[in-house]
Amino acid sequence: MGTNVILASEAIKRAPKLFGVKTGVPGLDELFWITEINESTGEIIKKPLGGYPFGSVMNITGLPDTGKSLMAEQFAVTQAAEGWPVIFVTVESPAEYIARGLELRAKGLGIDWLEIEDRIAIIDVASNDTLRENVKELSRTISDAMKIFKPKPAKNVVIDSITGLFEHMEVMARKIVRVLFNTMKNLRVTALFISQKRSSHEEESAEAAGGLAVSHIVDGTIVLSKKLITHKWETETFRLPLGNVLRTLRIDGCRLSGHDSNTHVMRITETGIVEVGPTLAEYISKGWK
Ligand SMILES: Nc1ncnc2c1ncn2[C@@H]1O[C@H](COP(=O)(O)OP(=O)(O)O)[C@@H](O)[C@H]1O
Ligand SMILES: [Mg+2]
Repeated sequence: MGTNVILASEAIKRAPKLFGVKTGVPGLDELFWITEINESTGEIIKKPLGGYPFGSVMNITGLPDTGKSLMAEQFAVTQAAEGWPVIFVTVESPAEYIARGLELRAKGLGIDWLEIEDRIAIIDVASNDTLRENVKELSRTISDAMKIFKPKPAKNVVIDSITGLFEHMEVMARKIVRVLFNTMKNLRVTALFISQKRSSHEEESAEAAGGLAVSHIVDGTIVLSKKLITHKWETETFRLPLGNVLRTLRIDGCRLSGHDSNTHVMRITETGIVEVGPTLAEYISKGWK
């Protein structure tokens, strides 16, 4: 048989175990689950996964200032605190700004920065045109960076943002995302790909810059939105004063595990930590708790 043909019985042996990888976002871990059927009663039991499915490539998308980078940083510091090294590819801001952001996120989550600072490797694409314009080169750099960590290689990769890699050439989006997706699968890491939405995109949709290329290739998409409270009636419905922002999060799809598909309210605390709350419907009737 050709090397591209494999029996399912063989492929299953190589399939990663299904378990959750802590997101570092309070309230989000519980929104991923697996379902099992009780043999005797036929009842469907939902078992919480406790995080992003291991080995998945998740896309977090939203307009600017919706909390994407905070979620990326919270994931990185949380994984590092668990002892699992992380590679953080920064495409928009230089490494020193990311390091400061990571330090702040660690503080906000009660994680000792000195314990984790050597478990996160930053690849600074923001200050390197060659890496930004050559996705194969970037893939190689990520693969090489895996080995910095001993004895265990990195288990997680964050790319903030992938849309920064095809800013002026959206026709290339599909190819670039596909190459990076395949690299993540070869490295057997859990990955977050952050993608920017343009304001012309429908707020709640999964479509990022580069069209639907991103959400079709990745394993799952999380959509972040925000709504400015501008009408008096909204202040009552959304329980916020005029001029405040209502933030929401929705898991738009995840092919590796079951998940909640409701729109949830979300907030950013004073220490800059993204937290996920109840569904929007529950929030409107009962408030945050
Ligand atoms: N310490 C903080 N306290 C309050 N708000 C913060 C803090 N840090 C960041 N934010 C807010 O969080 C929002 C989301 O930031 P960020 O994750 O960088 O957005 P994105 O990556 O989606 O563009 C911004 O509006 C920012 O003002
Ligand atoms: Mg950002």
